[in-house]
Amino acid sequence: MARTSYSWQIAVVLLAFLFVPIHCLKPHNASQEQILLEIQHLLYYPVVLSSWNNATDFCNTVQSSSVTVVCYEDLVTQLHIISGDKATPLPKDFSIDTFFATLVRLPSLKVLKLVSLGLWGQLPATISQLSSLEILNITSNHFTGTIQPEITSLTNLQSLVLDDNKFTGWIPARINFLSRLSVLSLKNNLLNGMLPESLGSLVDLRVLALSHNNFSGQVPDLRSLTNLQVLELEDNSLGPEFPRVSDRIISIVLRDNKFTAGLPEQLHFFYQLKKLDIALNRFTGPFLTSILSLPSVTYLDIEGNRFTGKLFEDLACNPELVYVDLSANLLTGRLPSCLVSSNARNVAYDGNCLTTNNGNEARTQKPISFCSNEALAVGIIPRHHKEGKGSKVALAFGITGGIIGVIMLVGVAFLIFRQVHGKKVVKPPSPVVSTATSSYTSKLLSDARYVTRAMKLATLGLPPHRTFSLEELEEATNGFDTSTFIGESSHDQMYRGQLRDGSWVAIQCLKMKRNQSMQSFTRHIELISKLRHQHLVSALGHCFEFYLDDSSVSRLFLVFEYAPNGTLRDWISGNDSGKTLSWSQRIAAAIGIVKGIQFLHSGVFPQLFSSNLKITDILLDQNFTAKISCYNLPLLDQTIEKIINYPIHTFLLTFPPISRVSNPEKLDVYDFGVILLETILAKPLRTQKEVESVKQQFHTRITADDGAINDLIDPAVRDACCDQSLTTMAEICSRCLENDPSERPSVEDMLWNLQFAAQVQEAWRSSEGSPISSSRRAITEQ
Ligand SMILES: *[C@@H]1O[C@H](CO)[C@@H](O)[C@H](O)[C@H]1NC(C)=O
Ligand SMILES: *[C@@H]1O[C@H](CO)[C@@H](O)[C@H](O)[C@H]1NC(C)=O
Ligand SMILES: *[C@@H]1O[C@H](CO)[C@@H](O)[C@H](O)[C@H]1NC(C)=O
Ligand SMILES: *[C@@H]1O[C@H](CO)[C@@H](O)[C@H](O)[C@H]1NC(C)=O
Repeated sequence: MARTSYSWQIAVVLLAFLFVPIHCLKPHNASQEQILLEIQHLLYYPVVLSSWNNATDFCNTVQSSSVTVVCYEDLVTQLHIISGDKATPLPKDFSIDTFFATLVRLPSLKVLKLVSLGLWGQLPATISQLSSLEILNITSNHFTGTIQPEITSLTNLQSLVLDDNKFTGWIPARINFLSRLSVLSLKNNLLNGMLPESLGSLVDLRVLALSHNNFSGQVPDLRSLTNLQVLELEDNSLGPEFPRVSDRIISIVLRDNKFTAGLPEQLHFFYQLKKLDIALNRFTGPFLTSILSLPSVTYLDIEGNRFTGKLFEDLACNPELVYVDLSANLLTGRLPSCLVSSNARNVAYDGNCLTTNNGNEARTQKPISFCSNEALAVGIIPRHHKEGKGSKVALAFGITGGIIGVIMLVGVAFLIFRQVHGKKVVKPPSPVVSTATSSYTSKLLSDARYVTRAMKLATLGLPPHRTFSLEELEEATNGFDTSTFIGESSHDQMYRGQLRDGSWVAIQCLKMKRNQSMQSFTRHIELISKLRHQHLVSALGHCFEFYLDDSSVSRLFLVFEYAPNGTLRDWISGNDSGKTLSWSQRIAAAIGIVKGIQFLHSGVFPQLFSSNLKITDILLDQNFTAKISCYNLPLLDQTIEKIINYPIHTFLLTFPPISRVSNPEKLDVYDFGVILLETILAKPLRTQKEVESVKQQFHTRITADDGAINDLIDPAVRDACCDQSLTTMAEICSRCLENDPSERPSVEDMLWNLQFAAQVQEAWRSSEGSPISSSRRAITEQ
């Protein structure tokens, strides 16, 4: 019985389905049909509508790619009229106002596509009456005039496509009223002006296509557009800074604009990026070779910029790369073999200074001296030749400025263009496919995932690494005034400066030997620019100064974050000022140091080992965040040893004998142990001997009964730390200082224990109230 009624229900449902088309077959709302016929008339009976007549059942005609009418309950909701080729403008007596006055009598329209119909005139403000409109595509017509601000009242609009017209003027500032917009495409018009900041609040935007207009100025901050997949800005006058976009972006086309500042190193984290076309700009600075191995990248074009740096044969590439154009830059070294041996790839690299094995190819490369000289022209105008401070052009170029240099630069760029353009050689496919690269890439990928999870957030808040102009640095330091001098070593001086935006920086000035190669600098700068982390004193940028006679580099300036609170040692032991960190702050500092070490070990590629990390290398910023200031870089490392105003310590802590450095990370763990020891005991440990004796004492006390280390620790915090927190810290410290490296804890282990110590201290503190009773008061906690 139940079964029968069930089938009956199904029959009813089926019948209901049958009735839907029957309902649609009824004669339609006559006025809607008339409107469509009127539209046909107003469009001068275009060929695509030749089948329309007064007998046409519009809502039930077969939809085609060129004509579609969709109805819902007798009302037209979609109208697509798409003519094949771009039509010539409709006759003179055509009136766009009459046309739209007719269109708005289809008030239920959600989708309106009028493509290549020869429409001309100003897009009328009456369009705002189509308030249901979700998609508007009027590509390939002859619209003129500005984009009426009234269009922003179409708040249901998801797709606004005005491509291939002659729209002029600016994008309406109220564009953000279109809060559901997911596609904004204004390609091939005559639009100009700056892009409105409000674009940055269109959070649903997936596609922003503004190519082939005359937009200028800085691209607004688009980082909050987390859905943005496609950014096309080709052929405008935008610049100078690389657009700030979410790292989920898939395609970036900046071709043929005025971008100059270097690539942001956040590009390392654009794991979904498939296409990057930044050709024909004025990008300077080191090329980020890691782009080649981004996990999704298939298309890379950097042609016609002034990227410097050395390529290596063993660089990794994503095996999916199909198009790579490195032509007309200032690259040196050897073409990565993963590009040479690839299969279906177009690879172009003419007009650089690469070394090739093939004689024919060598002819398309420039002598190495060309690239080093041109690289000089990028940073670089000798200071005694510079113009007055306000030289706008030089500032606009974001380089050490001077009119002569700018003219030189433009001239050189022009020459390169002439030489390279037109005779670009695309490498013929080679039969061998490198298999080695894929494993390399997957290793990078797994590293990359790790980096995303653990490290990415930590780098937030820092501006991208960039080229500074000498003027900017002179202004910041009041002409390197002695009052801004904060320290020096045999290789360098440190100055403190304040940039125009008010931020403080530490500027390291390195005097260069005449014969030092440009590559060594650029490689060094490239490395430094990658080392950005909340717990590293990160580099913000650099600046070159050149000798006038042979244009070799005379001075290299590295601009770092400034940590105003000095070294960790200043804050823990018998210093004159009496300022000390509370116990919680010490734990927080220790956690910061370990996170910095963790980043050096596993957040950058290749790994870096700090080696010989000292408490005086740990700086505290305005929030008492601990930052490692000395990371051991392969090149020029001796020169960046001293970052800031601390007395230059001549002592060296030597490691327990390193016969074979099999696990260098454990050396850093040991160094951290020494720092932690000093942090806990507040006893300056300046020599290996001091370390050894204190360590011995400490070990003995720790293994003895509870509370035995209490009288060893810094009296300033003795009463203000809970026992369990102290014991945890002491134990981890003691383990870090084990003589056998394999006994020392891993970085993760340390982090876990330190965080535990922080938690129990926090819990204790909130239950005890404010237990700080020491004579030397710990500074207030945040
Ligand atoms: C046709 O549509 C118009 C506009 O929606 C409406 O005012 C009119 O009553 C409809 N006529 C018929 C016959 O349904
Ligand atoms: C349809 O149009 C034809 C001419 O194009 C005309 O002769 C005919 O009377 C019209 N029919 C109706 C129902 O309007
Ligand atoms: C606009 O419509 C034309 C014709 O259908 C289509 O080719 C084009 O891709 C559309 N533009 C956008 C951005 O959707
Ligand atoms: C583009 O805009 C600039 C000013 O920003 C103007 O000088 C130039 O003439 C414009 N070019 C075109 C083709 O409209």
